[in-house]
Amino acid sequence: MTHVLVLSASPRRTSNSDILADEAAEGAREAGAQVTKVRLAHLRIEPCDACDTCQTSREAPCVKHDAMQDLYPQVRDADSIVVASPIYFFTVAAQLKVFMDRLYALGGGGDWTALAGKRLGLIFTYGDSNPLHSGVANAYATFRDAAHFLGLQIVDVVHTACGGQGDVRQNPAAMQSARRMGQRLGSP
Ligand SMILES: Cc1cc2nc3c(=O)[nH]c(=O)nc-3n(C[C@H](O)[C@H](O)[C@H](O)COP(=O)(O)O)c2cc1C
Repeated sequence: MTHVLVLSASPRRTSNSDILADEAAEGAREAGAQVTKVRLAHLRIEPCDACDTCQTSREAPCVKHDAMQDLYPQVRDADSIVVASPIYFFTVAAQLKVFMDRLYALGGGGDWTALAGKRLGLIFTYGDSNPLHSGVANAYATFRDAAHFLGLQIVDVVHTACGGQGDVRQNPAAMQSARRMGQRLGSP
């Protein structure tokens, strides 16, 4: 069975990116996948201190005892990962960036293959009606470079401008795109 991990970064209630993340999760379930969803903003995840203890060997764990200790095995075990984030100040939300920095601990001993071969789906929401001005290109470029380095395959990207909380529900094209993304990522 395909394992899909859905990571949703928005701190907002009735968040547009979180609604799209739920839609992707539903699509993955329809495809027969086992889905785990995590709201990063609800967890205590501290920033990386660059102590480099995790880099001393392949098995060396991150020394910080926070929510990442539960997330590391979930990330390792997932076949597909969906990442959903609002655009904050022209890139990904800080709630997601702290998580991303902590993935440094998966590269112990210089072995960066822990995530290789996994499929990745991206969901971004923003306020600016012009995507070129929103900052979504910066968020995408971050993941494009990370995926290239880590050997992940970006399967799909769903992005849309949104107004107030929950407005994306009135955008059937975005909702359908998110569901289709989930179906693709949830397939064997
Ligand atoms: C701190 C903050 C920074 C933001 N920065 C941007 C930005 O740089 N570009 C943009 O288009 N929208 C920006 N927005 C608007 C959000 O991206 C937009 O409301 C988005 O739909 C929020 O997604 P959510 O409903 O999933 O939380 C910002 C909102 C906040 C609260």
